[in-house]
Amino acid sequence: MYPNILRHPGPTPIPKKVQLAMNQDMISHRSEEFVQLYRETTERVKPLFGTNQDILLLPSGGTAALEAAAVNTVSPGEEVVVITIGAFGDYFVSICEKYGFHIHKLQKQWGEACSAEELAEFLKPLTNIKAVFATYNETSTGVLNPVDELAKVVHTQTDALFIVDGVSCIGGAPAEMDQWGIDILVTGSQKAMMLPPGLALVSVSDRAWKVIEENKTPSYYLNLLSYREWAEKGMTPNTPAVSLIMGLSAVCDLIEEEGGFSQTVARHELMKNMVREAMKALKISLLAAEEYASPTITAIRTPEGLNLGEFLAHLKKQYHLDFAGGLGPLQGEIFRFGHMGYCFPSDILQAVSLLEAGLQDFSYSFERGAGVLAAQKVFLQSVSR
Ligand SMILES: Cc1ncc(COP(=O)(O)O)c(C=O)c1O
Repeated sequence: MYPNILRHPGPTPIPKKVQLAMNQDMISHRSEEFVQLYRETTERVKPLFGTNQDILLLPSGGTAALEAAAVNTVSPGEEVVVITIGAFGDYFVSICEKYGFHIHKLQKQWGEACSAEELAEFLKPLTNIKAVFATYNETSTGVLNPVDELAKVVHTQTDALFIVDGVSCIGGAPAEMDQWGIDILVTGSQKAMMLPPGLALVSVSDRAWKVIEENKTPSYYLNLLSYREWAEKGMTPNTPAVSLIMGLSAVCDLIEEEGGFSQTVARHELMKNMVREAMKALKISLLAAEEYASPTITAIRTPEGLNLGEFLAHLKKQYHLDFAGGLGPLQGEIFRFGHMGYCFPSDILQAVSLLEAGLQDFSYSFERGAGVLAAQKVFLQSVSR
């Protein structure tokens, strides 16, 4: 009866308008209606990537898009750099290992970002790098890598492509793919894009297309050249996720209704600040430093003296508030508060209030209402501007 308050890093809540759009009668993916839907929608998504390049739509999860970016550009034995700052950087490592690339791994401690200086130093002795892979928003730690600065370093010091996983932030964080020099940017539907899982979005720079055209590694379903070829006709090589593309069109409407993508980005920034200030007021530590804190997900350290598993289970059972736990080495150490996509300042006030109720139930020592008040203060400052 009570709705689940899903404050996860994805899948995330789906707006009613998007649900209804996905509920339309099915159309053929080889019809004129589809061509129009495809052309209009992929055009409207471009500002979310900050690109004039085509947006290719794969009927897949984010992992397939990461794999497509890797397999289309690099051949076995070629050298790559993978920057990993958490669980999803490690995904890129695993993919590159599977395909037999020669990997130079730039490993950062979980909770930290990779700075431009660190990458510059790491690249110095490397002379034959084909691609540098990085995660924009590390979902396991709530850390945003400075991909704009990293791109500059890659292109100053190497001829490598710069390939970026934007799965958990595109649609909620600023992205200027063309201006920053990102060669391939990918995302998935189920996070800041306000859609169910099952659609991946990929954009490719001219420089990356040249590399892809010459790449010899075989791929079939994930072959980006065939996606490009079919995109010219306003279609996809195989049957696409038609309903999700209908939903994506409604997502574009909603972003327009909000006043354009810059407003959507500003809302995510505001929600990040509300959550962070609330936790500070509750004397609960945050994992990520201010400078690199994610606008879509906040990693929060386990409040002192609490059993995190029991606490999260209680929040869900008693208050229907659903947070995600930590991954890998951070399991039991942090929980993750998702604030992306169809999430608003009022949702943050609700979640912080219920979180406080749970803390009270677990006899955690804190000033009641302090978190809500702090979040509300950040919100009201933004309203009065
Ligand atoms: C940053 C990042 N990359 C990749 C993935 C994998 O995406 P999917 O689970 O859709 O395959 C995720 C999923 O959480 C993610 O957060």
